[in-house]
Amino acid sequence: MLMRLPALILAAFATLPVVAVEIVAHRGASYDAPENTLAATRLAWEQGADAVETDIYLGRDGKIIVFHDKTAKRTGGRDVPIADLTQAEARALDAGSWKAPQFKGEKVPLLEDQIASIPAGKRLLVEIKVGPEIVPELKRVFAATGASERNITVISFNYDSLVEVRKQLPSLKTLWLVGHPAPDAKRAPGAKPPPTVAEMIRAATAARLAGLDLQHTWPLTPSDVQAIRAAGLELHVWTVNDAAVARRWRDLGVVSITTDRPAWLREQLRP
Ligand code: G3P
Ligand code: CA
Repeated sequence: MLMRLPALILAAFATLPVVAVEIVAHRGASYDAPENTLAATRLAWEQGADAVETDIYLGRDGKIIVFHDKTAKRTGGRDVPIADLTQAEARALDAGSWKAPQFKGEKVPLLEDQIASIPAGKRLLVEIKVGPEIVPELKRVFAATGASERNITVISFNYDSLVEVRKQLPSLKTLWLVGHPAPDAKRAPGAKPPPTVAEMIRAATAARLAGLDLQHTWPLTPSDVQAIRAAGLELHVWTVNDAAVARRWRDLGVVSITTDRPAWLREQLRP
């Protein structure tokens, strides 16, 4: 009987469903379409992404503006801080021409439209690019659109913003984004070193966040991953456009991988 035990255990594992890593489209399918536009979001859904990631600021009129950079220069053609624009002014920008002529006139989307586009069973990762002052307006938009823990995750580098989300929207899942310099990168003068894994676990647990969403350059070991999991935290990774790097993180056991190329990456990860 004892001899048969390993075979029995193997057979039991073979019946468990294989949980595939989720693919998150970074700013939509941003390799093929202009980032943070409805064109990129719709393409990401067509490409089979499990989720779309999108970035938000607070405009001068207190409304939410979907945008990545601090200014509109690179992707909107106007050298003006996003915080100095009203939502209507941001929506008057051409957010598509910088990518390719076929996207000319593509608008900065409303977060409401991004939410309305989410297919059943998929989700939007909303990245807060500013401080906690955005949370009341975010709460209003989520309430108006029927957004909930079913289809929304809030992510941010700004820990205080996540703490405020936990206070005002306690049912929502929150992930803390933490960057790490590449191994060969020179530390910028005055730049703070990244936190340790233990510090991240302590901070995320204290705020009752759902987990960590780490830059792919983190030199994480399997025992770090075990510690993160043992603390009851999820682990996610961004932004991976390299198949070997994606496989390494998948094998470490991340829940999701954020990429600019959802369809391509899914193909690369096919067993
Ligand atoms: O998904 C996280 C990732 O989007 C953070 O970096 O600069 O692309 O917003 P960034
Ligand atoms: Ca982002």
